[in-house]
Amino acid sequence: MKRITFGWIIVCLLAANCFCLSAQSSDKKAQNRVIKVKTPARPAGQTDVLSLQCDPIPTVRVAFIGLGMRGPGAVERMTHIDGVEIVALCDVEQKNVEKCNAKLVAKGLPKAKEFYGDTEVWRQVTALPNVDLVYVATDWVHHAVIGVQAMKEGKHVAIEVPAAMSMQEIWDLINTSEQTRKHCIQLENCVYDFFELTTLNMVQQGLLGEIIHGEGAYIHGLQPYWDQYWKNWRMEFNEKHRGDVYPTHGLGPVCQAMNIHRGDKLNYLVAMDTKAIGNPAYIKEKTGRTVENFRNGDHTCTMISTEKGKSILIEHNVTSPRPYNRMYQLTGTKGFANKYPVEGFALDGGEIDASIAANHENLTAHSFVPEKVKTALMQKYKHPIAKDIEEKAKQVGGHGGMDFIMDYRLIYCLQKGLPLDMDVYDLAEWCSLIPLTEISLDNNSAPVEIPDFTRGGWNKLDGLHFAQ
Ligand SMILES: NC(=O)c1ccc[n+]([C@@H]2O[C@H](COP(=O)([O-])OP(=O)(O)OC[C@H]3O[C@@H](n4cnc5c(N)ncnc54)[C@H](O)[C@@H]3O)[C@@H](O)[C@H]2O)c1
Repeated sequence: MKRITFGWIIVCLLAANCFCLSAQSSDKKAQNRVIKVKTPARPAGQTDVLSLQCDPIPTVRVAFIGLGMRGPGAVERMTHIDGVEIVALCDVEQKNVEKCNAKLVAKGLPKAKEFYGDTEVWRQVTALPNVDLVYVATDWVHHAVIGVQAMKEGKHVAIEVPAAMSMQEIWDLINTSEQTRKHCIQLENCVYDFFELTTLNMVQQGLLGEIIHGEGAYIHGLQPYWDQYWKNWRMEFNEKHRGDVYPTHGLGPVCQAMNIHRGDKLNYLVAMDTKAIGNPAYIKEKTGRTVENFRNGDHTCTMISTEKGKSILIEHNVTSPRPYNRMYQLTGTKGFANKYPVEGFALDGGEIDASIAANHENLTAHSFVPEKVKTALMQKYKHPIAKDIEEKAKQVGGHGGMDFIMDYRLIYCLQKGLPLDMDVYDLAEWCSLIPLTEISLDNNSAPVEIPDFTRGGWNKLDGLHFAQ
């Protein structure tokens, strides 16, 4: 009997050992399948900029670089914020600078210093001594180089989306922010839209349970705009690059709801695209030029897996005849939020508080809550920062008000010396899809590692908190 038991123990131990070895080797195999992406070592003496706080700046002196379609709206919005001085305006084109300055003068504000003439003139702006914040709204390829130089010359920097287009640019911005201890953020306005802010608040209060899946997109036919971009920069980028080249509007709000680099992290992605039809056809029709190898497909889908076992789907399409759509969808263990094409919430009935659920039977997650309940939820869970500024934001505008909330929050935090709502690691994570989806697509949709841009700090912060 004893011998049998001992024999069985040996057999069991051997079997367990084999199982562990095979589990280990299948784990290893799974890891080997992911294409590794280099994370440069943090230079000695440099530390992270998580929750970076800088000296308060009661009057924020702002310089704008890039005044095409997007920039002038930002200049206008800043004129509505107390404690802002617009001290410099810069664009390659003289007329763009003069038009903005004329608007300042018409409002009774001091004329800003003007810089124009070529693509290097911005260097005089970042070198100015009397500037606190450089606000960049140029084409994509000039974003990072301006951002890096501005920080090196002692300025905080806010850069339009996407702020960086390659891994080199991403790491340059991170390293410069860490070295100089200057804020470097991306001007991601979509995280401030009213539905997204309300939903974020619901998530943070636990109404939707644990968020396990999120979706976001940039689906917007750009045909009315292609001809208006300065020197055709946007079509050119799409012609030369395959992948999700504009991921931040879709990814930003989902990452915030999932506390990315504040308790979870993006681990790897897989991308898949269609062939390119719409954009090359547009070029042919407009210019007669046949593009043989237009790189970017009409529609790109990217799936991301996180450390804590969550998934994200991000889509990009700027050519097909479809209604505008950023998707924004969150699936939680207790509820569901969806923004496009219909805004709505579906909730596990038990989670709704009695005053809201009153008179509504069958509140199950099988359908959206009735309009009345949705309105009550939107009111009850209105985000504190929206409460403060909603009315003025709607008056000033900018995509319905979210652009103003973004600028207002940036200035508010700078004036008070608070950490900004977004940091350079958000910028890095949201922009990293641009180079990383290209790698995945060029390798038959292989999984590609998403680096931990905090270099070990992704679990230091306990969730996302907007400073007050
Ligand atoms: N967040 C949003 O909702 C949103 C909306 C639209 C555009 N954007 C972003 O804003 C940026 C600008 O887009 P746009 O539509 O205004 O493009 P645009 O082509 O209309 O404007 C770009 C401007 O930058 C200027 N410029 C280019 N290189 C420069 C340089 N080196 N120095 C100074 N000026 C330079 C050009 O002269 C042009 O006036 C892009 O990054 C775009 O993705 C964001």
